[in-house]
Amino acid sequence: MTPTLETPRLILRPIRRDDEARIQELFPELEVVEYLYSIIPWPYPEDGAKQWLDFSLPQIERGERHIWAITMKEANDDLLIGCLYMNLDGPHHRSFWLSPKYHKLGLMTEAVVAFNDYWFDALKQPVIRSGNAIPNLGSRRIKEKSGAKLVEVKKDSSFVGGVWDEEIWELTAEAWRANRDKFSKTASDARQAE
Ligand SMILES: CC(C)(COP(=O)(O)OP(=O)(O)OC[C@H]1O[C@@H](n2cnc3c(N)ncnc32)[C@H](O)[C@@H]1OP(=O)(O)O)[C@@H](O)C(=O)NCCC(=O)NCCS
Repeated sequence: MTPTLETPRLILRPIRRDDEARIQELFPELEVVEYLYSIIPWPYPEDGAKQWLDFSLPQIERGERHIWAITMKEANDDLLIGCLYMNLDGPHHRSFWLSPKYHKLGLMTEAVVAFNDYWFDALKQPVIRSGNAIPNLGSRRIKEKSGAKLVEVKKDSSFVGGVWDEEIWELTAEAWRANRDKFSKTASDARQAE
């Protein structure tokens, strides 16, 4: 079962079948999908969210993944503004997206604190392995400031927006514990700057 997680501004709740229309509305934007892996069909089909939920909900039921709908606490409307994915078997353990209206407000930093705490403290996993296209500076920054280390650069990976080299990062439990407070503070600074 995917647990509901809470941060100062967010409620991360399990995705549900009735998120379909909202995902179909928010997800098919180049700014959202450009640096996601090209397994995502593009142009996004009209039933893309339905197909994705048909595939993903059984994976969640089998305990292979957790997928959270990111919702704003203040809005009090339970409405998805992005997603956070946890793949228990990798090769990429964590991935995420937010609707562009919510970018650069420190929200994913906040969500990642909840994710990393759950991964390391509740699940007792030793390492988070995740990747990003080289030009994806926001995603890169989240990894870097959490204490992750760049362990590999794969040539010519295929993303929705093109072919770029792909960075693979690893964050150990020890490095997360050493960086957690500083990392959370950057989300709290972003809150105060709003
Ligand atoms: C990547 C993404 C999730 C970042 O979410 P976000 O909520 O905007 O990130 P935050 O506001 O928490 O910012 C995290 C850090 O990245 C920096 N950052 C965010 N977007 C950036 C950008 N486009 N360019 C450069 N830096 C950026 C922020 O300044 C912050 O750094 P700081 O704490 O040193 O100031 C968001 O841009 C997104 O949804 N992109 C589309 C989907 C995607 O690419 N997912 C990742 C696949 S690997």
